[in-house]
Amino acid sequence: MLKNFWYACEFSSAVTTKLKQIEMLNQRFVIYRNSQGQVVALKDQCPHRGAALSLGWVEDDCIRCPYHGWKFQAGGKCIEIPANGPETPVPKKASVETYSVQEKYGFVWLFYGELPEAERHPLPTLPEYLFSTLHPVYHEGIEHANYARLIEANIDFAHVIAIHRKSFGQRIPINKTIEYKVEEDDWSAVATVTYDSLGNSKSLLNLFLGGRPRLKTRLSFYLPNLTLAEISIGRDDGFDIKFGILVAFLPIDDNTTCAKRVLYRNVLSLPWLDGLVRKLDYKLAHEDTVVVETLASQPMPKISEELHVAADCLDLAYRKLRQKYLAMGWGLKPDQSESDNSNGQPCLVSKNHALNARGIF
Ligand code: FES
Ligand SMILES: [Fe+2]
Repeated sequence: MLKNFWYACEFSSAVTTKLKQIEMLNQRFVIYRNSQGQVVALKDQCPHRGAALSLGWVEDDCIRCPYHGWKFQAGGKCIEIPANGPETPVPKKASVETYSVQEKYGFVWLFYGELPEAERHPLPTLPEYLFSTLHPVYHEGIEHANYARLIEANIDFAHVIAIHRKSFGQRIPINKTIEYKVEEDDWSAVATVTYDSLGNSKSLLNLFLGGRPRLKTRLSFYLPNLTLAEISIGRDDGFDIKFGILVAFLPIDDNTTCAKRVLYRNVLSLPWLDGLVRKLDYKLAHEDTVVVETLASQPMPKISEELHVAADCLDLAYRKLRQKYLAMGWGLKPDQSESDNSNGQPCLVSKNHALNARGIF
């Protein structure tokens, strides 16, 4: 898992004035929207006893802890400890870690790491037509596989004829060399493969488009956790059916991932068809998952530990870029991401109660 990146972590539409827990990077975050509509993100752990703040409630744009009711501002500062009464000052150390957030492309993005603002990479630039001309459907699911392995499957041109052989893969020409060029920058890479004609069949798609339509697939990844598949199926007169599949993979731990998926389409855009489209997208995603779950090594192994062919180029670009940031010390070990509440926490017993407290403990 990588630090010092912006993580797409939740659909914007799912963040309201109610507290919401996000599990990611071996820890818990709590997010909510304040009365001005801005998204606020804090560590989901009270500094008193470590309760999940997300079980508490929002009051005056602040969070009340569900255990003893300490009240925390959006900036993380505790401003009220009910058991101490208003006359006792709140100790300065009673605060919760907070995180920078942004909203774009229908997602909330949370920055995790210690890089100062000026050195942080910007959010990716995604193709605008997805958001301005296509109709989106949102859904999510928990996968019992490593997030990097799932990302790799999502940017893998060669897996379609096997993993998806019972669905759309049966229409892809088999035994055809897959050649493409990877274009990459510091945080992302993209490649395109075009098939001049899809398999011959009397399917609805072929009848609708007439003959054997061409298929263009453009796959991209954006560190640390986003992939985009742009698929266009068209005929020579320029008419295209377009799909975009944007997925944010939230690494919950090394073996568990929450995949937040948005499927964009320019056909059958009636909202009452969304349920059907969601089901179909889930089915196709599940075809990947059942196989990826079985990979011998879940956390990504070293490049030299597996075999690679030319068609794996985009996957290799992902691995190399990821490796580059791990080598820079931007890796996050599970035990590093856990906060340690056992040291350095102040004793918040007020002077008046100290004697009684000593007697009890
Ligand atoms: S654990 Fe949060 S107030 Fe006690
Ligand atoms: Fe797939």
